[in-house]
Amino acid sequence: MRTFRMMTAGLLGLFMSLPLTALAEEGDPILGREKAYTCMGCHAIDGYRNAYPAFRVPRIGGQHAQYIVSSLQAYKNGDRRHPTMQAIAGTLSEQDKRDIAAYFEAFGRSETP
Ligand code: HEC
Repeated sequence: MRTFRMMTAGLLGLFMSLPLTALAEEGDPILGREKAYTCMGCHAIDGYRNAYPAFRVPRIGGQHAQYIVSSLQAYKNGDRRHPTMQAIAGTLSEQDKRDIAAYFEAFGRSETP
């Protein structure tokens, strides 16, 4: 069984690494910029407060990519509760999360894509 599992994991890894060899683990900030479009209404506003209803939105620009990915994961699996973020995180694929996180990590730096 063990060998079988390892073989499956190996094959799966090989399969997944085919299209985006270099970027798969890292996340692509350029793709992330497009995918992050919907996040901007709430997360990229001056003072990080949206217009209506008035609630505080945490700043995620400049946050570590890993932190963003794991927060999204926590919303998705219900460890962290917030109706809006849970709904949004539920629509993102693993790759979407990495790309978006890579974009936000670069956000605010001079090399922002
Ligand atoms: C409708 C407004 C809205 C949209 C759109 C939105 N967010 Fe959020 N987001 C929030 C709010 C409000 C919180 C704080 C929730 C809480 O208290 O847990 C939050 C929290 C987060 C956090 C956790 C931040 C921290 O400091 O722990 C991350 C990461 C995040 N959002 C990422 C995203 C991403 C990525 C997108 C786009 C795919 C997105 N959000 C879209 C409102 C929004």
